[in-house]
Amino acid sequence: MHLTREEERIYNGELGWASQICMRILVKLGDLFGAERLIPIDSAHVSGVSYKTLGNAPTDFLKTLAESGEKTRVESTLNPKSFDPEYLGKRLPEKLLQEQREILRAFEKMGFKQSYTCTPYHLQKVRVGAHLAWAESSAVVYANSILGAMTNREGGPSALAAAIIGKTPDYGIHKPENRKPNILVEVDPPIKYGIEYSALGIFLGRILKDKIPIIKGLKELTEDKLKQLGAALASTGMTNMFYYENELREKSGIEKVNVGRKEIENTIEQLTTTQVPKPDLVFIGCPHCSLQEIKKIAKIVRGKKIKQEIELWICTSRFIREKAADHINELEKCGAKVLTDTCAVVTWTEELGIKTIMTNSAKTAYYAPTLNKADTILAPLEECLKTALEK
Ligand code: F3S
Repeated sequence: MHLTREEERIYNGELGWASQICMRILVKLGDLFGAERLIPIDSAHVSGVSYKTLGNAPTDFLKTLAESGEKTRVESTLNPKSFDPEYLGKRLPEKLLQEQREILRAFEKMGFKQSYTCTPYHLQKVRVGAHLAWAESSAVVYANSILGAMTNREGGPSALAAAIIGKTPDYGIHKPENRKPNILVEVDPPIKYGIEYSALGIFLGRILKDKIPIIKGLKELTEDKLKQLGAALASTGMTNMFYYENELREKSGIEKVNVGRKEIENTIEQLTTTQVPKPDLVFIGCPHCSLQEIKKIAKIVRGKKIKQEIELWICTSRFIREKAADHINELEKCGAKVLTDTCAVVTWTEELGIKTIMTNSAKTAYYAPTLNKADTILAPLEECLKTALEK
């Protein structure tokens, strides 16, 4: 890799050991993937913020890095942590909260924004054509496919290193020649509902591996549905972007795959692991809810009450919570918990006695059996809310 004189100085440790380590992580990665140079980024987004998913060894590294006094050089945001201050912060064991707070202190010391969301694109304006170093897989697909930005799927350490250096190696999806679609997916009959988008993502992730699809047969191209599709796609595969009908650039000779009703229905069925009629938790907000989603949920629950034996969590970012204050009031009045900074997957639901999670997100339904040791019920938003609400 060719380094500028300034980059070489960092690489050789002239600006301190912390930036040297970060530069070495980036150069190693670049060498591995054949990058010739580093390119400046507009922002970095770090995942692995929750103590539940991070564990102890990376926590020690983070603390040491923060102690060095090293700071981020670009806009740098953080993925959800394991609790929100109002609800889970009062219910979870103090020992776990304490560990989590130490991680947060280290990030804050380095200059990371206390964003704690998997939808950083709701907080910041992302330029078309901007280079980013984002680690949250659902946000990576969203940035590449919907916002027209460019980011590889970073790991936690490489996103952290990019935040500190302000650059990323120029390889993969940063290069226009690697952003070309190479498979056509025809969904027939066309799909319309959020849960179908979600299921399509899980199905495609499994068969596409890292291919970039053009998807035909998406009937409603709302950002929220595309967000669900992208989050699910990234859960089961390595695809980091997709094209959709609006921008169809069909090429002759491109490989084709058909997806029918059976594939969508089977996927939804597989993501439901229990026949229990009543879940302990109904969880909406994976990825974190947008303003539109909050409005939609508020409209459905208006004037109703949550059943005593079921919890309803609606997860969103602090930014959207602030913007949707009136709707949030409505949700809280009915007994829903509107949680910022966290989600059901990255917190300790087991500690709270939650054994069954019902959700409209295929990503949660895919991860919860392993990460939460919970049974799952995947269902459309309306059905999830109906289950949680009193008649
Ligand atoms: Fe976000 Fe948690 Fe889903 S981090 S994408 S809400 S698993």
